[in-house]
Amino acid sequence: MAPAQEQLEGEQIVASNEDGANCIEKSRVTVIGSGNWGSVAAKLIASNTLKLDSFHDEVRMWVYEEVLPSGNKLTNVINETNENVKYLPGIKLGKNVVADPDLENADFLDLVGGDIAVKDATMLVFVTPHQFMDAICKRLVGKIKPDVEAISLIKGMEVKMEGPCMISSLISDQLGINCCVLMGANIANEIAVEKFSEATVGFRENKEVAERWVLLFSSPYFQVTAVQDVEGVELCGTLKNIVAIAAGLVDGLEMGNNTKAAIMRIGLREMRAFSKLMFSSVRDSTFFESCGVADLITTCMGGRNRKVAEAFAKNQGKRSFDELEAELLQGQKLQGVSTAKEVYAVLSNRGWLEMFPLFTTVHEICVGRLPPTAIVEYSEHKPKCCLA
Ligand SMILES: NC(=O)c1ccc[n+]([C@@H]2O[C@H](COP(=O)([O-])OP(=O)(O)OC[C@H]3O[C@@H](n4cnc5c(N)ncnc54)[C@H](O)[C@@H]3O)[C@@H](O)[C@H]2O)c1
Repeated sequence: MAPAQEQLEGEQIVASNEDGANCIEKSRVTVIGSGNWGSVAAKLIASNTLKLDSFHDEVRMWVYEEVLPSGNKLTNVINETNENVKYLPGIKLGKNVVADPDLENADFLDLVGGDIAVKDATMLVFVTPHQFMDAICKRLVGKIKPDVEAISLIKGMEVKMEGPCMISSLISDQLGINCCVLMGANIANEIAVEKFSEATVGFRENKEVAERWVLLFSSPYFQVTAVQDVEGVELCGTLKNIVAIAAGLVDGLEMGNNTKAAIMRIGLREMRAFSKLMFSSVRDSTFFESCGVADLITTCMGGRNRKVAEAFAKNQGKRSFDELEAELLQGQKLQGVSTAKEVYAVLSNRGWLEMFPLFTTVHEICVGRLPPTAIVEYSEHKPKCCLA
């Protein structure tokens, strides 16, 4: 299937089969994170590094070590079976994926006598739940090559005293490196079994670097397009999780398809308004890419945020999101609840709560200040956002 590519605003790059012939040094890729999406990303990348001459075959994947109920360490099991039995059972990652429990890698080097580590990586793929990134970046300071290129597949943001900080900025600022983003309608388990989907790479200035990321991720079943709008792409991927919570609440309340479509439309409008207020450079066209409307649809139809919010509404808000997350997601993490809290803090600090009734209401439901039914009552407060 070859999707039609449309030239919208700005410059777009689509995958080509050309392997950077002018590339002198082979790139070494390390994936930092090994959850559900992290494992699928490693699989996608590993199948490409085997095919592309300008990349080293081996893909190193940092694993946050866990002891499985069997008593075995997750890293050992991944390296022995080539499967992430906890986060992506039943899928072979590719023999060139090496699981590594040591982020900075000194112990692991001693163990295997190898010579490849995070410090030798030239391309770093960040794909952990966003709440762990601050600590991970701190551990990586001074341990990586100064000119390493990074990409973040992480959905979420950090709120600091001075305002919101996107994860790509956190990586760039803490590590002093360039960081692109990759977002899209990408439920990991579907990509793991090679069902067709699309994704969007957001880049800041360097088109060649974006082309390299497109090359590394693209496959016939995973079509990647790049757009020059890091903040727009990243905010789409982050904010849609709040809308997915709203969609799940509507499902739990059995409100039907019209209501859910209305929630998605209102949510998309708030996503665009918030993004443009935060970064004037954000482009409208980005919301029509995979990272925008497509990711919003898939997340509201089938993602984990929707699933847990549905259970929350079915229980009339009497069981907490934390409890339901632990019960329903088996170690996977929700993003929507924490993102709603972070966005609420920004809205509150700037006096914008009334301009974003959906985002505001989702947070107030999550913390128990409003009942789940409030999700369809919020429109009594008229949105006052001129951009919406
Ligand atoms: N799963 C998907 O379908 C999907 C799709 C697109 C984007 N994403 C995004 O990818 C990112 C990673 O999600 P995922 O699905 O790979 O993870 P996950 O939720 O499946 O797994 C959680 C991961 O966090 C690790 N972890 C637990 N405690 C930790 C700690 N203290 N420090 C560091 N790591 C710790 C676990 O070992 C595990 O690897 C998230 O931002 C998510 O929004 C996920």
